[in-house]
Amino acid sequence: MMEKRRLMNFSCRFLAFFLLVQVLILGPGAGTVLASCVTAACHQDMARIARPHAPVAEGECLECHRRQAADHPRKGGGRSFVLVATGAALCANCHDLLPAGKVVHEPVAEGDCLSCHQAHGGTGEFLLAVKDDQASLCLECHEGDDFSREYVHGPVGSGACTQCHDPHAADQPALLRQPSRRLCLSCHQELEPAPGAVLHQPFTAKKCTACHAPHSAAQSRLLREEYPGLCFSCHQQVGREYKKAKEKHLALYKDERCGNCHAVHFSPQPGLLLEKEMDLCLGCHGKDDTRKSKPLKNIKTELEGKKHLHGPLAEGSCSACHRPHGSDYFRLLSGSYPASFYAPYHQGTYDFCLSCHEPNLLRFPDTTIYTAFRNGKQNLHYLHVVNRRKGRSCRACHQPHAGSGVKLINEEGAPFGDWKIPLRLVLTPTGGSCAPGCHSRKSYDRKNPLDYNHDRKK
Ligand code: HEC
Ligand code: HEC
Ligand code: HEC
Ligand code: HEC
Ligand code: HEC
Ligand code: HEC
Ligand code: HEC
Ligand code: HEC
Ligand code: HEC
Ligand code: HEC
Ligand code: HEC
Ligand code: HEC
Ligand code: HEC
Repeated sequence: MMEKRRLMNFSCRFLAFFLLVQVLILGPGAGTVLASCVTAACHQDMARIARPHAPVAEGECLECHRRQAADHPRKGGGRSFVLVATGAALCANCHDLLPAGKVVHEPVAEGDCLSCHQAHGGTGEFLLAVKDDQASLCLECHEGDDFSREYVHGPVGSGACTQCHDPHAADQPALLRQPSRRLCLSCHQELEPAPGAVLHQPFTAKKCTACHAPHSAAQSRLLREEYPGLCFSCHQQVGREYKKAKEKHLALYKDERCGNCHAVHFSPQPGLLLEKEMDLCLGCHGKDDTRKSKPLKNIKTELEGKKHLHGPLAEGSCSACHRPHGSDYFRLLSGSYPASFYAPYHQGTYDFCLSCHEPNLLRFPDTTIYTAFRNGKQNLHYLHVVNRRKGRSCRACHQPHAGSGVKLINEEGAPFGDWKIPLRLVLTPTGGSCAPGCHSRKSYDRKNPLDYNHDRKK
């Protein structure tokens, strides 16, 4: 290689001398036979170009330059050569027209090829002044702000603008090389959903750029907007719950926020949940809460080894009863349920339980159909709960999540201050009896009712 170049330089020098003589004898116009202008004395910069343009390397200067004056260099200043053509026409002499596209880059449309390319060659490929990092080239004309926010996209940071954009023309808006979404997935092949996955509607129906900025963003993961505002732009109902719910679920307000529970692109679980619903909730609610004031119960230990799970829990659901995004009711429940041990029934107080269970459970002092907890016709739910002075809430007798005994009866005892009131329920085919901390053992029988007044008189 080096040998060749030295040899060429030598022949160039010889040629130059020969041509100079020729020009002197024959006058202007004889330059058309000029083979090279790069000599030790002249245009040495051409020999130093790292990646010269092919015609420059070949010494075909006159493919582009035409002699217009006899003396060169001109003694009084001014140009002895002009370009054979200007703008894109100069290039079109040798290059096919660039592939057309619906969108043409403005400098290309204006034939301003030289705003990016160096006619003689450059330090990088493709006659560019830049090597791999094209950012400086492009940012000569484009505002830098869009590319320099805190979190920069990998290929933008390394200046690989033309991985995504065609510098000349393209059929896609913004000169993209492929339709926007397909372009993103051409690199992000890790986002190929497994067959059968639940897909987030905008992940398939919208461009990725609905949520992500392509170049850089002030939020991590190139998000256009902060979590969870990003989600609320479409999920206004959840947004309202988030802001207005009287009881807020702390899980939405810390760490990954919505991302604590949801995947955003796709998930094997319904509702785009990260895990099966119960596993997800128990992931946070399956630990002992070590705080001294108002610790929450460890629900996992509450369920472990229990024979009877409350209906929805047996189906793996917590959200049948709790509103995961916030609620106006105690413990994020989906309806009204009192917080205290004593809470006499009024219309509405126990709507939560009665939305799934017999709505007439507590309406009539006497019934033969609405509950099995009765003595003859006497409704014992009514007796205990409706009592205006000391109506007992359901928790006095029932467990909310699971129980070892039948009817979710609270075997360990309902918390009553520092004490737990044991219930000791025994069922019979037609009734039962219990000996709670509240009174001595009492029986009830639906077929052969006991006479409680008689008991009392004795
Ligand atoms: C592909 C076309 C092309 C070829 C081949 C070419 N030039 Fe140029 N040259 C240009 C263009 C276009 C300009 C004007 C550049 C500008 O205005 O930025 C130019 C400008 C110049 C200038 C003016 C000074 C400068 O750098 O702006 C010199 C000197 C020059 N060329 C010498 C040569 C020599 C010597 C060769 C052969 C070794 C050569 N050129 C080959 C296109 C070419
Ligand atoms: C005299 C003919 C000629 C003219 C005029 C010409 N080119 Fe070229 N150009 C070539 C040849 C030959 C190659 C090498 C082709 C190859 O390697 O396939 C080339 C290669 C290129 C390349 C690719 C370089 C690389 O690193 O692979 C670019 C970009 C280019 N030319 C741009 C231009 C532009 C812009 C103009 C107008 C300013 C222009 N050319 C004018 C002959 C010309
Ligand atoms: C905005 C900058 C820019 C302008 C203006 C521009 N180019 Fe390019 N061109 C590039 C870049 C960057 C490449 C490198 C290829 C790539 O990264 O895709 C390239 C590559 C090329 C190539 C070689 C590869 C190919 O795509 O065929 C040719 C030839 C070429 N340009 C010719 C031209 C011509 C002719 C013009 C004017 C009509 C022009 N370019 C205008 C930036 C530009
Ligand atoms: C990962 C692909 C990708 C890379 C790399 C990339 N862009 Fe973009 N660019 C896009 C997409 C996608 C759009 C369209 C934005 C939209 O639809 O909102 C775009 C739009 C643009 C626009 C149009 C104006 C705008 O913001 O809408 C310009 C200018 C631009 N990019 C320049 C650049 C420059 C300069 C670089 C390199 C520093 C670059 N891009 C790197 C994907 C990319
Ligand atoms: C010589 C100046 C110049 C250079 C250099 C330049 N551009 Fe542009 N570009 C423009 C102009 C002018 C427009 C049209 C006005 C606008 O959208 O800002 C444009 C528009 C664009 C657009 C939007 C096209 C559309 O229709 O939506 C993209 C994308 C783009 N340029 C990318 C690039 C990339 C990538 C580079 C570097 C390879 C680059 N530009 C280099 C001048 C330039
Ligand atoms: C040319 C390949 C390429 C293309 C095309 C591409 N990306 Fe990327 N993207 C990357 C690389 C490389 C990273 C960095 C990966 C890493 O750090 O692990 C990345 C990272 C990301 C990240 C994570 C950033 C973070 O802070 O963790 C997001 C979000 C992203 N890309 C979205 C997109 C979107 C949207 C598009 C389409 C507009 C797209 N990408 C197109 C290569 C690409
Ligand atoms: C509805 C908004 C939305 C859409 C649409 C969307 N994303 Fe995301 N994307 C996010 C959010 C939010 C995160 C961060 C949470 C996470 O990592 O799970 C994210 C994270 C990412 C990450 C980083 C992953 C990681 O774990 O670091 C990549 C890469 C990514 N998205 C690419 C894409 C691509 C490619 C598309 C289009 C095919 C797309 N996104 C569509 C919202 C979206
Ligand atoms: C561009 C609008 C848009 C954005 C932004 C958006 N979503 Fe969605 N999302 C939808 C649409 C549309 C549906 C499907 C409509 C429906 O079934 O209600 C949906 C459905 C969902 C579903 C239910 C999926 C199912 O199959 O049950 C969840 C969960 C969800 N989105 C969470 C999020 C989270 C978290 C964010 C923020 C990272 C977010 N969405 C951002 C439009 C959006
Ligand atoms: C504590 C876990 C958790 C968090 C945190 C959470 N969600 Fe949900 N989300 C759920 C559960 C559980 C469902 C019900 C899933 C089902 O229907 O199978 C759900 C359902 C949804 C749905 C579809 C049904 C509906 O209510 O519209 C959307 C949309 C949704 N979530 C958006 C969000 C947004 C936005 C955030 C962040 C503000 C968020 N979620 C935070 C657990 C959570
Ligand atoms: C990312 C962890 C996390 C996940 C997952 C999670 N939670 Fe929570 N949850 C919390 C935190 C933190 C609190 C607030 C504890 C406090 O008030 O001290 C809380 C409180 C609660 C409360 C009591 C609210 C109150 O005001 O008394 C209920 C009920 C609840 N969560 C149910 C659920 C359900 C149902 C799920 C599954 C859909 C779930 N949680 C998933 C972290 C989580
Ligand atoms: C059938 C309805 C129902 C289902 C299903 C349900 N819960 Fe509950 N949960 C309740 C009721 C009622 C309370 C209030 C108990 C009380 O205070 O007496 C409660 C209370 C809680 C509390 C607060 C515990 C405390 O007192 O410290 C948490 C945490 C909780 N549930 C989590 C869960 C989780 C996690 C799931 C799913 C594994 C779940 N719940 C399923 C009805 C339900
Ligand atoms: C989301 C619906 C739902 C809510 C709300 C609900 N339950 Fe249940 N409950 C069920 C289902 C389903 C079963 C099992 C089917 C059955 O045996 O009736 C069940 C069973 C029971 C049983 C056992 C019945 C039996 O015959 O073994 C009791 C007791 C009970 N629930 C009490 C309550 C109490 C107290 C509340 C309010 C704190 C409540 N439930 C709220 C759905 C619900
Ligand atoms: C004083 C204790 C006690 C209280 C308070 C109590 N229950 Fe019961 N409940 C029982 C007993 C005992 C049974 C079992 C009856 C039988 O099957 O013999 C029962 C059975 C049930 C059943 C099964 C269907 C039926 O009626 O036989 C449901 C549902 C139920 N209770 C809901 C509730 C709700 C809702 C509340 C609160 C509004 C509540 N209970 C309050 C003791 C109580």
